[in-house]
This record gives sequence, C-alpha cells and structure tokens, in this order.
Amino acid sequence: EMAGKCPFGGDRIGGTLGTPPSLSDWYPNRLKVEQLHSNGPQANPLGDDFDYAAAFEGLDYAALKQDIKTFLTSSVAWWPSDYGNYGPQMIRMAWHASGTYRIADGRGGAGEALQRFAPIDSWWDNGNTDKSRRLIWPIKQKYGSALSWGDLMVLTGNCALEIMGFPTYAFAGGRHDAWEADTSTYWGPEVWDPTGSPSSDSMVTRDKRWRGKNGDADYDLENPLAATHQALIYVNPEGPYGKGDPMGSARDIRIAFTRMAMNDEETVALIAGGHAFGKSHGMVSAGEVGPPPEIAPIEAMGMGWQNPEGTGFAEYTMTNGIEGSWTPNPTQWDNSYLENLFGFEWEQTRSPAGALQWTPVDPTAPKTPDAHVPGRMNPLIMMTSDIALKVDPAYRQVCEKFLGDFDAFTQAFSKAWYKLTHRDMGPRERYLGPEKRNEDDLLWQDPIPPLTHRTIEAGDVAGLKQAIMATGVSPSDLVFTAFSAAATYRDSDKRGGVNGARLALAPQKDWTINRRTVAVIAALRGVMAGFNGKQAGGTEVSLADLIVLGGCGAIEQAASDAGVAVTVPFTPGRRDTTQDLTDVEMSNWLKPVVDGFRNYVDDSYDQIAPAVSPEEMFLDKAQLLGLTAPEWVALVGGLRVMGANHDGSSRGTFTDRVGVLSNDFFTVLTSMAYEWKKADEKGMTFTLDDRESGIARFRATRCDLVFGANSQLRAVAEVYAAGDGQARFVRDFVKVWDKVMMLDRYDVRG
Ligand code: HEM
Repeated sequence: EMAGKCPFGGDRIGGTLGTPPSLSDWYPNRLKVEQLHSNGPQANPLGDDFDYAAAFEGLDYAALKQDIKTFLTSSVAWWPSDYGNYGPQMIRMAWHASGTYRIADGRGGAGEALQRFAPIDSWWDNGNTDKSRRLIWPIKQKYGSALSWGDLMVLTGNCALEIMGFPTYAFAGGRHDAWEADTSTYWGPEVWDPTGSPSSDSMVTRDKRWRGKNGDADYDLENPLAATHQALIYVNPEGPYGKGDPMGSARDIRIAFTRMAMNDEETVALIAGGHAFGKSHGMVSAGEVGPPPEIAPIEAMGMGWQNPEGTGFAEYTMTNGIEGSWTPNPTQWDNSYLENLFGFEWEQTRSPAGALQWTPVDPTAPKTPDAHVPGRMNPLIMMTSDIALKVDPAYRQVCEKFLGDFDAFTQAFSKAWYKLTHRDMGPRERYLGPEKRNEDDLLWQDPIPPLTHRTIEAGDVAGLKQAIMATGVSPSDLVFTAFSAAATYRDSDKRGGVNGARLALAPQKDWTINRRTVAVIAALRGVMAGFNGKQAGGTEVSLADLIVLGGCGAIEQAASDAGVAVTVPFTPGRRDTTQDLTDVEMSNWLKPVVDGFRNYVDDSYDQIAPAVSPEEMFLDKAQLLGLTAPEWVALVGGLRVMGANHDGSSRGTFTDRVGVLSNDFFTVLTSMAYEWKKADEKGMTFTLDDRESGIARFRATRCDLVFGANSQLRAVAEVYAAGDGQARFVRDFVKVWDKVMMLDRYDVRG
C-alpha cells in the first residue's frame, strides 16, 4: 500500500524537504563556503537591477512622514496602542533593529532589516516586535519597493520621537533589505531553548561567552559578540543572572554598549532617553505565552508569543515580564526619567509576571497612568539596568550632568540616536532623502572631505602609471599595497576601503600587517609631489588614486609577462582624508587577526585557536568583502603569484616566476606530483615535497592548502588549473581585483 505514503524511509528528511541532517550535521567542521552565496541575487524579488536610491528619492517624503505620524496616534483592535500612542513601541522596535550592531565585525544593525528573519525575529528580547512590524505593514504596502523595511523601521522610530516632542538630529534612507535569514553572523556559542526566557532554567548558562565572573578584573565577553546573553540585544534588564544586582548590571552594560561602539555618555543618553517613553509589559508569567514566530503554529502567520490571558493584549500584555512605566508622562519628551531615578530611593519588588523590578520607597512619589484602564494609576518603576546608571560612578556623573542640563541631554540623545540607527550605513554618499544631514563631520562616519580639485582623467593615467613603475617599487609591493588599502573594507557596515587613503594614517600605517606598504606610500607620495601643482587647470591626483593605480600598473605588467594583454579598469576620484577625521580606536577594529589574502596570522590568534581555524577566519573575511567562491579563488591565486604575502615570504606562491600573473598557484595546488606535509606540530604550515625526488619544493599555510583541500574551492581551482585556465584566470582576476578596489566607491556606484 504505497498510495499516500512518503516515498522516503526515515523519519527525518534532508535537503529541501526538511532540515536535519544537513551536511554540517554530518561534518561539523566542514568549511561552509556556501555562506558566500547566502542572500544572493536569486533571493531578491526586486531583481538585481532595481535602483533603490532612485525609487526612494522619488517618494513623496513629506506625505510618508505624515502617514507614519497619523498612524502612530491611532489604535487598532487587534493590538491597541498604549496611551493611544504607538510611538514608544516603535522606538523600541527601531532600537532593537539597530542594537544588534557590533563594532568587531560590523555585523548586525538596522541596515538589512534582519529583525524580520530568524533567529532575530524570535529572540526573547524581540518579544512583540512582530506586532510593531505588522502594525506598520499598511505603510510599507502603500509605498512598496520605494521604501525598504530597514528605512521604514528607523524612520518610524524617528517619527515616534518627533510626535512626542523630541528633536531628532536627522534621518537618512538607503538601507537595502535582506531577503533571507542571515547565516553568516556568529551570535554566540550557546545552544538554547527558543521557548525559554533569559532567566529560565532551560536557558544554558551565559558563561559560555564570558571569561571570568562579573566583578573579576579580567571579566570579558567573547569577540565579536556584543550581547551579554544569547537571544538578547544587549543585557538582561534584571541584571546578570537575573539577580537584580545594579553594579553588576552596570559592568555588563558598559561591555555591551562599548561593543556597540558607544561611550559612557552615549550609553547614558540612549538608555535614559529611550526610557523617557513607554512602558514595560509583564502581566502574565513567561511560561504561559506561546512560542516565538519562527516556531509558532502555521495559522499564527508569522506572529508569536500568543498570550492566553484575557484579550492577550492591552492591559494583559506580556512582553519582557517587567511591568510599568518609568515616568508619569510616557508619551512626552522630558527629564522626568532622571529626575525620578535620582529623586527617590528605589526598592526591589516583583511584577505580576514575577520579574524583578524596582519601585519608589517613598509613598508620595508620583504615579503614572495605566496605559489602558481609565483612572487607574500605577507606581513608577525602574529596571535593575536603570538603577545601574545611578550606582556606577562614571554613569552617575553623566546622569548628573544631564539632570542639570536638559538641553545637553537632548542634544546628546539626539546625536547618539542618529549614530545608533545610521552607523552601519557606511559612507555618507549612501545617505538618501531630504532629511540627511551631511554638513557635520561625525567621526563614526569615517569622514572624507569632498574633492576640492579637478580629478585626473584618462589622459593623465598612462603617464602616472609610468611614473609609478619608474620609482623602482616592485609590482609585488604595489599589488600588496593596493590590496592592503582595500582589504579593510567590510560589507557588513561598509567601513574601510581605499578611499580616504587611511592606509597612510594612524592606526593603519602602524599595523604589523601593513609594514611592507610604508616604503611604497613614501614612493607614491613622491609621484604625487611631482604631479600635483604642475598641471594645467589645477588637476591633482590623490594618494588614494595613486595607491590603486600602482596596483593597476603592476597587474598589467604581470599579465603581459604571462602572455596576456589586459587593461585593468581604473576609476579616478578617490579623496584623501586627514588624521583629525580618523577615529584611531574605532579604526583599530578593522585590523585583521587572520588575513588569508596576505597570509597573515596575528600573535593574538593563539587566544582563539583552535576554536576557529585560520581558514574559517579567511572565509569570514571573504564574506565581509562580498566575494563569491570563484572570486575568492581567483583573487587569492593572483595575490600568491604576485608575491603579496605580508612578510614577503614565499608561502603559497607556488611559482618560480613571482610577479608573473600565471596560473601556477592552481596547477601546483591540484598536482599529484607533490606530497603535502605538516611542517609544525599544530599543522599551521606545510611543505610541498616532490614525490619523486623527495625534495621540498614549496611552503604553504592552511590558507593556501584550503583551496585544494575543500571540495567546493577545489572545484573552482580546477577550472583555473586546466589547460584552458590561464586566460580565464587572468580575466577573472582582473575583474575581482577591480571589484575589490571599487567596494567602497559609493560616490560612483551609488
Ligand atoms: C522598553 C530594557 C535600552 C527604548 C524596554 C523594556 C525592557 C527594556 C525590558 C520593556 C519591554 C516590554 O516589556 O515591552 C532595556 C535595557 C536597556 C535598554 C536593559 C539597556 C541597558 C534602551 C534604549 C532605548 C530603549 C537604548 C532607546 C534609545 C525603550 C522604549 C521602551 C523600552 C521606548 C518602551 C517600549 C514600549 O512602550 O512598548 N526596555 N532597554 N531602551 N525601551 Fe529599553
């Protein structure tokens, strides 16, 4: 009786019919090269050629903002607004969208509207943000593809602040939505129960991501993480372990917000500013609410946390578990959060849901109106994470300043909110809309001054290339330098890249990995001095353009030496920035621990070995550069034969003709004439011995051999190693080279 029966045998079905077991269940250590193609063009229903910038600029922006503001003070039956105002819950939605950002790898943030997808849509901390997004769906629907979810979520946050009397600093559109769950971001080591809450026993202990105990001198959080707990955006509001310890909470807040690239003043401004609005929801115990969106029943239609109590919303709402508001007027921008925090003594109490919170000891303290029940007045509340701002000496100092100077507080929150919501957008050229505000140089934007001279044109390029080649700097050094300038780019937060020529400024000029570039930069400066100021019409060349041009000249010569004539594309117009406009501390986060492109492993790698292999970090860097697997392979093959290792070593060069753009890297890599042997105990370096003579011919690292060992990368390497591979390799290398040089050119590619 086969009719209606599943043709598959087991009770778990793999592939597209089900999930586990997947390749990575069988082979947990396999390099997940397919990550490079996640959220690829195939997933995008708008198509590759959709011009979002043009669509957004075509919006009736004033009408859009009016629509949002009108909606904010309405109320719908399936999720009535607290106090008749959706503003506070929308501010929280926008904050949570942005607050996933972490400076270490630039991932997270509001940029791609990842709050719509797993795992973030179902994080404990995002409880009921599904309602917020569903509430603004009619606005998204009305404006369609001209308004991304990412832009809508942040703009709704801004509109919410504005209708409650807060002067926002600015708003820039330009966020491009993702179309599938992000699988490239590491959110921490814990396997967790998605139905649990941070304080429930079913959650694994948070210690997995921590070193030491809260209060120890060396207490620290694993990089690149910023959240102190799996499935949270930042910290547990009830303090570490949910134990209500404000000082411990302050320590966690400082770590989490520093990883978000916020200093003490910004941190206080954000928390005190945010909690001037709205309330926390904790009428029902956590155990009673249904599963989060990702595992809710199909008829829940993508919504989660179904609440069986009463109507399940309004005065029955259960989100975090803490219950109450921080101020007597939660829909008005004022200084009462800080006034109350400092004006009263607070004692620990519990919410109806059983969560730890704080209420004023003083019975005469002001009360706050219920969000739904007319006439009912409730006590004010603080969370342990709010009390933290009062007990921590440095936070307290900032609070006292803001308490005495409401304007300073308003301005600090305004700027910090702008930074929070825009910091993963990259260069200001990406900013769209009538409310962008580009006249101030904000250091976190990595500003580059505008062009003040005529830029070089096609006619100048050939002469400049010749001048560079005539300096005697080797093609190898020129390629290394151009790549080093470009390699800081990360597509996550669009920071880094050649533009600005920050390679020649602190801190990049001082990084060990960049040592080889110092003499090259000096030579390029010589070429620059010989050119600038001597041209008719005031044409000048920037150092950044010269860095790229040097790479072009070197590659053209190397290709020609390999018997292939090519012109490497070159698009002038890069500008140079200044040391004053460079945030040294925040730029140091761009420094690689491992950079397989330049065969570099930092001394600090030992701290994370062997949990992460160099080749995994190499893959991560390739992903941050936005490379496909074929691009990655071609790029590395070219860098190796060009001799572009950071230390000039021959590891992985696999050629006797360094500086010739041959496919030797691939022919050696795929050849059975060699035997590969570990050259050290840890298996970090190798020799390639001639099988016949037994003589060691080449040396290599893991970041070389991976292109022959990994099956997906090897499949591409074979293409370039093949009899017809040389010309294809040169063509593909030149193409990916240009792509990498242009990664940060939002001034020309939009
Ligand atoms: C609400 C925690 C920082 C804005 C809440 C809630 C919690 C919380 C538990 C209640 C959620 C609910 O049950 O509905 C924290 C912690 C923070 C922090 C632990 C950092 C230490 C911020 C920041 C902002 C912000 C930086 C914005 C700049 C808000 C707003 C609400 C809220 C507007 C009210 C939401 C509503 O009325 O529905 N916060 N928060 N919070 N938070 Fe925060």
